[in-house]
Amino acid sequence: MTTSTSPQFDFNIRIDRRGTASKKWQPSEQADIVPMWVADMDIPAPPAVRAALEQMATNGLLGYGAVTDDLVQAFLSWCERHYGWTPDPDWLVWVPGVVPAMHVATEAWLDRTEGLATQTPVYPPIYHMGRVRQRPMQWLDDHSGLMSPASLPDQLAGDLKSDTRALILCNPQNPSGQIYTRAELEAIAAVAAERDLLIISDEIWADLILDADCRHIPFASLGPAAAERSITLLAPSKTFNIAGLCCAVAIIPDASLRARFQQQAQGLLPDMNYAGLQAARAAYSEGGPWLDALRDHLRGNLERVETWLRDFPTVGYQRPRATYVVWLDMRQALPADPVDAFLRAGVALSDGADFGAPGFVRLNIGCPQAQLETALQRMGQALGG
Ligand SMILES: Cc1ncc(COP(=O)(O)O)c(C=O)c1O
Repeated sequence: MTTSTSPQFDFNIRIDRRGTASKKWQPSEQADIVPMWVADMDIPAPPAVRAALEQMATNGLLGYGAVTDDLVQAFLSWCERHYGWTPDPDWLVWVPGVVPAMHVATEAWLDRTEGLATQTPVYPPIYHMGRVRQRPMQWLDDHSGLMSPASLPDQLAGDLKSDTRALILCNPQNPSGQIYTRAELEAIAAVAAERDLLIISDEIWADLILDADCRHIPFASLGPAAAERSITLLAPSKTFNIAGLCCAVAIIPDASLRARFQQQAQGLLPDMNYAGLQAARAAYSEGGPWLDALRDHLRGNLERVETWLRDFPTVGYQRPRATYVVWLDMRQALPADPVDAFLRAGVALSDGADFGAPGFVRLNIGCPQAQLETALQRMGQALGG
């Protein structure tokens, strides 16, 4: 198994989050339940981030924040180092979250009657985007429940409805952890050009690719034509476990689309969170070594899940190439109500139904090994092991 405690960072330290106003832990505070659901890790943020926040708290000055050159430079050099892509600084629009930015992007691009498409199963706020925005929504699915990125280009070319004008791409994909190849992204870009689609590319998981030989490919890095019809959404929130600080960035190369996005955001998106800006600058400037060590820890946890799965061959599984979530097909192993069965055994998981795939569950492995061990042992009991 991969070593999970680097000399510098200890990812196995256990911190009691009960009573800390945590969305993940609060529902199970009164019961013996291990929460393994929402995409929030039980791992403290990098030391550099914590130092920046401590300094902020010591100053005690918590007014409105500004995006500084330091933050922009740190972010651009992160993009260059990690994705081999350097966006123009003029393209960046800092936003308080990826999901709100997706809503703004939708309204900035579509006419009243036009709609969106996405590949399912997918992260619930994307899955439910049509209902929330009161627009037509097309769910593209190969009906395996396991998500096959390779099937998307053909589905787009063959099945797209005439009122679909934007595609929300989730890459790396949540909940499956799959990644689109360059050839698949190019095929998607070709359909987008032919059908005049906007690509809203949610790349929030870009930094959590676990496959050693794989590098994130931003959709907009394919070339100028793809870039001009894209809005790329990136954030330090999943990477550095700082989702509560609400900081993200929309990268919009086309100037008129960017102006429409900014116009649409006025009065709807709040000002940037000051703590989020401080944390993002520290994370992008100094968080690289911590992230490398974190990925090793997550690989170790994933190996542990795979060993555990050998005892439960009826549980369907496709190895995630990225993210810290594992997507499990329980339709054979626990056909009745897997989420409830696992909850009764003392583990809270995300329900596949919320992602458009009933019968599946999503397990968050972003935690100390001992916590994962307890969860797997309890899940094994629910499975009759
Ligand atoms: C694919 C995806 N997009 C967006 C988000 C949330 O982004 P934000 O909190 O910045 O709105 C998540 C959180 O898990 C996610 O998995």
